[in-house]
Amino acid sequence: MKHVLITGGCGFIGSNFVRHTLKNFPDYKIVNLDKLTYAGNPGNLTDIEKNSNYRFVKGDIVDAALVGRIFAEENIDTVVHFAAESHVDRSITGPAEFVQTNIVGTFNLLEAAREAWLNDKAGESKNACRFLHVSTDEVYGSLGETGAFQETTPYDPRSPYSASKASSDHLVSAYFHTYGLPTLITNCSNNYGPYQFPEKLIPLVINNALQGKALPVYGDGKNVRDWLYVIDHCQAILTVLQKGRIGETYNIGGNSEKQNIEIVNLICDILDEKVGLLPGGEKRRSLITYVKDRAGHDRRYAIDATKIRTELGWLPKVNFKDGMRKTVEWYLDHKPWIASVTDGSYREYYEKMYNNRR
Ligand SMILES: NC(=O)c1ccc[n+]([C@@H]2O[C@H](COP(=O)([O-])OP(=O)(O)OC[C@H]3O[C@@H](n4cnc5c(N)ncnc54)[C@H](O)[C@@H]3O)[C@@H](O)[C@H]2O)c1
Repeated sequence: MKHVLITGGCGFIGSNFVRHTLKNFPDYKIVNLDKLTYAGNPGNLTDIEKNSNYRFVKGDIVDAALVGRIFAEENIDTVVHFAAESHVDRSITGPAEFVQTNIVGTFNLLEAAREAWLNDKAGESKNACRFLHVSTDEVYGSLGETGAFQETTPYDPRSPYSASKASSDHLVSAYFHTYGLPTLITNCSNNYGPYQFPEKLIPLVINNALQGKALPVYGDGKNVRDWLYVIDHCQAILTVLQKGRIGETYNIGGNSEKQNIEIVNLICDILDEKVGLLPGGEKRRSLITYVKDRAGHDRRYAIDATKIRTELGWLPKVNFKDGMRKTVEWYLDHKPWIASVTDGSYREYYEKMYNNRR
């Protein structure tokens, strides 16, 4: 039986991961430590909150005493670290929180693991422990028209968000090299799927297009991202946890590069087909509104996922078109969920980010 600490388990990827792990490993004991920021929603896990192998702790990874207590109380042997401030736009308007959570918070978790695994436990049990740090492809910077990020690509972060994630990656790597902490790092491309907070591109466009509102697209809409269905990401993390070589980094990607505008067009077309045209008989593509580009907006990201494929045998299972269909259907089936997260503070934020750019 593994005793797993999942941080940020009430967020988008974390909640999918908690559910996916309990489904595939019902004997794992999971503790979910989440501060419940604007992005954390305990409602993402109502279906599993009564599972006797699941415990939720509302708390901050920046609180070192709390993190240490959880390690001791729960005999934690595995960490899957998702908790982060994760939205690039928010990191531009308020970077301080990113430094606290993403850097100081990761440091606290590493210290707690070092204390629990390297000082208290015998060598044998230490070998079974794992600290998996979930990171992003954004640490590598921006690409030109060709090429893809490999694990050896030099770091070149461009936003306070990616700089804070890069910094946390370096700390994790340092704890492996300096102390021998059994760490793993994954750097993944853009995720999409159920339970994503509707400030990010895909749920934002679905939500607005459903309501007949403008669909804000940054710049010329031609920024390229590689997209991965969130459950494929969860499965990749489990694969790295089980088979990855400690101290290593694994890039995870969907081999699915898309321009932002292609995604917006696809969502409009799926919704036109599923719920009919707009009341005036117009297609939803007519709602597209180009807005001033984000400062320092990276042009293109692409992931070379050869290492995880050849070493660990992981491949994404869901192709982009099927994944997008599933995602739009999920949002159509979960309108109360969208309503519950698009409260006043979200609308205020939305005004600041998009309406002032017109
Ligand atoms: N979303 C993506 O496309 C993507 C891609 C690659 C990597 N990642 C990484 O995956 C992780 C999860 O991303 P996400 O999109 O699910 O993020 P999210 O913003 O949806 O969720 C983050 C969660 O962390 C919690 N949290 C924030 N600060 C905390 C703190 N100080 N203490 C405890 N909990 C805290 C929030 O309440 C929330 O539940 C992040 O580390 C992110 O960098 C995300």
